[in-house]
Amino acid sequence: MSNFILEMKDVSYGYQDGGRKRMILKNCSYKFERGKFYTILGPSGSGKTTLLSMASALDVPEGGTIEYEGTELKKIGYSKYRRNHMAIIFQKYNLVDYLTGIENVEAGMMISGHRTKGDKKEIGYKILDAMGIVKTKADRRVTKLSGGEQQRVAIAKALAKDVDLILGDEPTGSLDTATSNEVIELFKLLANEYGKTIILVTHSDDVAEKSDVSLRLRDGQLMPF
Ligand SMILES: Nc1ncnc2c1ncn2[C@@H]1O[C@H](COP(=O)(O)OP(=O)(O)O)[C@@H](O)[C@H]1O
Ligand SMILES: [Mg+2]
Repeated sequence: MSNFILEMKDVSYGYQDGGRKRMILKNCSYKFERGKFYTILGPSGSGKTTLLSMASALDVPEGGTIEYEGTELKKIGYSKYRRNHMAIIFQKYNLVDYLTGIENVEAGMMISGHRTKGDKKEIGYKILDAMGIVKTKADRRVTKLSGGEQQRVAIAKALAKDVDLILGDEPTGSLDTATSNEVIELFKLLANEYGKTIILVTHSDDVAEKSDVSLRLRDGQLMPF
């Protein structure tokens, strides 16, 4: 098996701007390795969210290809890829407000047809507990939790999906420094100890410093920071 989990090959993408096309990604190529924690920095408007939408198959490149474990996403099938191979965490809006923490996590497992045999609820509580969400909190409606706790539930939900690739669009952006640091340590552990590949867009130099590989999106391309 290749050591690369996700490979972007000459990916190009642009938006129509008035009468003309403005290219955001320009022959962007990069190979992401398994078991590494990556951060992507770049000024606002440089195309970070656009890049993640390609990597999560929410949108399709206009030029070039993206491969997961050596197979084009198109060939895997975009919805199958999203369902079975990756999870994405946004700054907000990852959770269903009227459900409890555990119900949110279970919903995440349901979508992916969780691979693990065993009681989903029990596994859900365990993952939440590992995220520092004890059972009494997991049983609360997520709107009754603090912002930091909600984001931990969102991460638990992504983890419960049991996939090897986790993408994040500024997932710690709304957290205080202490909570953000804890969450980042957790991502690091997941990458380095559990072989997950984590790719986080961030504008925090602190977060970037803690990652294994820090990249910059500039002029439509990914390059070493
Ligand atoms: N749906 C869209 N239609 C037109 N332009 C867009 C659209 N989405 C993003 N853009 C533009 O593309 C550029 C890159 O956006 P984005 O990927 O969101 O950047 P970042 O996440 O780095 O801030 C920005 O100039 C933005 O205004
Ligand atoms: Mg963005």
